[in-house]
Amino acid sequence: MAIIGGPSRWFWLALFLLLTAEIQAGLPTSAVATAHPLATRAGIETMRRGGNAFDAAVAVSAALAVVEPSGSGLGGGGFWLLHRASDGKQVMIDGRERAPLAAHRDMFLDEQGSFDQKRSIDGPLSAGIPGMPAAIIHLAEKYGRLSLETSLGPALRLAREGFVIGKSYLKLIGFRYPVMLAYPAAAKIFLVDGKIPGPDFLLVQKDLAHTLEQISERGRDGFYSGPVARAMVRGVRAHGGLWSFSDLEQYRVVEREPIHANYRGTRVTSASPPSSGGVVLSEALNILSGFDLARSDAIGFKHLVIEAMRRAYRDRARYLGDPDFVSMPIERLTSLPYGAALGSGIRIDRSGFTAEMDTGRSEPEREGQDTTHFSIIDAEGNRVAATLSINYPFGSCFVAPGTGVLLNDEMDDFVVHPGSGNVYGLTGGEANMIEPGKRMLSSMTPTFLENPERVAILGTPGGSRIISMILLATLDFEAGKEPDSWVSVPRFHHQYMPDVVEYEKGGLSDDEIQGLQAKGHDVKELNRQYGNMQAILWDKMTNRVTAASDPRREGLSLVE
Ligand code: GLY
Repeated sequence: MAIIGGPSRWFWLALFLLLTAEIQAGLPTSAVATAHPLATRAGIETMRRGGNAFDAAVAVSAALAVVEPSGSGLGGGGFWLLHRASDGKQVMIDGRERAPLAAHRDMFLDEQGSFDQKRSIDGPLSAGIPGMPAAIIHLAEKYGRLSLETSLGPALRLAREGFVIGKSYLKLIGFRYPVMLAYPAAAKIFLVDGKIPGPDFLLVQKDLAHTLEQISERGRDGFYSGPVARAMVRGVRAHGGLWSFSDLEQYRVVEREPIHANYRGTRVTSASPPSSGGVVLSEALNILSGFDLARSDAIGFKHLVIEAMRRAYRDRARYLGDPDFVSMPIERLTSLPYGAALGSGIRIDRSGFTAEMDTGRSEPEREGQDTTHFSIIDAEGNRVAATLSINYPFGSCFVAPGTGVLLNDEMDDFVVHPGSGNVYGLTGGEANMIEPGKRMLSSMTPTFLENPERVAILGTPGGSRIISMILLATLDFEAGKEPDSWVSVPRFHHQYMPDVVEYEKGGLSDDEIQGLQAKGHDVKELNRQYGNMQAILWDKMTNRVTAASDPRREGLSLVE
């Protein structure tokens, strides 16, 4: 009998196994890095239940709202940068807060017409309309595969059963204690009989659990209308705030195209306006790509990075705001020729040009621990970098009775008063002035870095210093370093105004300080370290995933 030609079934089986093995070898393992061990475990638990990185992002966002109330929450907002492996789609979910419809430019002036910063950071007048609940619902419905109820499960459990607070909670509640005391519903939850709690305090949040349940059962309506919305509007208005039901009903997330840049062969994908993060980062990288950093000594390298920061932050103040309200020259700002033009003005021997415009404002209080960031990758290669915030530690310190929802004080991210910096010393122009329904400019910089060999997912809290931290980490990535180096690299910062190079303890050596001073830089040591970076690296060549949490704080990264 003649044998029919063509490959045998053994051939096909072998080919199938080979291909499957190749596909397997081309996929990462999953990993989660967050600012709190319980939130990291919530993300891992969600993926073990069959969820993808987007379901895990819902679980982590909600868990952080419970276990790290100083940094983010249902009463705040954020930016979720997504990469979907199946089609390579990259998008930024803009869940940024927006100004109430009754907001106006003079809302933070006192009775004498003078700017009163307390009004823009303490209490419900400082609160924008929250975007976080809408964003996590959108994320679950459009990108996740588990039910909202499943992904919110860990957060609900943590709110109901409680958890023992950590060191950061204790430190930051002390920082905001006097404001918290002024708002009884918040004090009842976060203090013990009006006092700062002890280290073994079990924080149980029954009202927040109820609000999470409402969201899990009713979706948007569980937060933006119905009893939770009524309690929030009533509470805010009773304490001098401007919210209305229309504000909550009208809130929508927006899917935005991220900012892309190319730095020496690394594709940078980062947050677009209303965050300034991606634009400032791209601009600084474009400036630096005109210099041979590898040949600079440590002082020369830092001088160039500082001068790049100065110029990029200047454009933040000049041009950036909410893209739904202002038109911005984004293409020009993020172009290489523009970066080259800015770079050509840098003098190697001396510092730049802020002084004639410097307001000279000092900012002794900036903490750098407000806001939060998490990074996730799943075994299909889906990625999430999300930076979330309620702005200052514990936001406005205001909770509407019965809701458990700590409201943000994000209104301070607007130009709250022409000529004055905000709480981070950031200044700005017309583009970021308060208008009804407008989103305030942010510095949050969730970022992906990718070259032919490696993929990075990273971000950090830290107010105006967020962008400079991501810049330093990007340069470290480009130098071939690993996540534990990016998250711990010594930090220094310049934001155009005030004209001062700030550095964390250990951020500059004595030689570097002297060298920078000799070039004319005003150099100031901060009395602490700052930032809380959470980073993941997927090495596509070895298919190894590594993750790191900033050693300065108590985060946890896990690789499965
Ligand atoms: N609230 C900090 C930021 O958005 O930049």
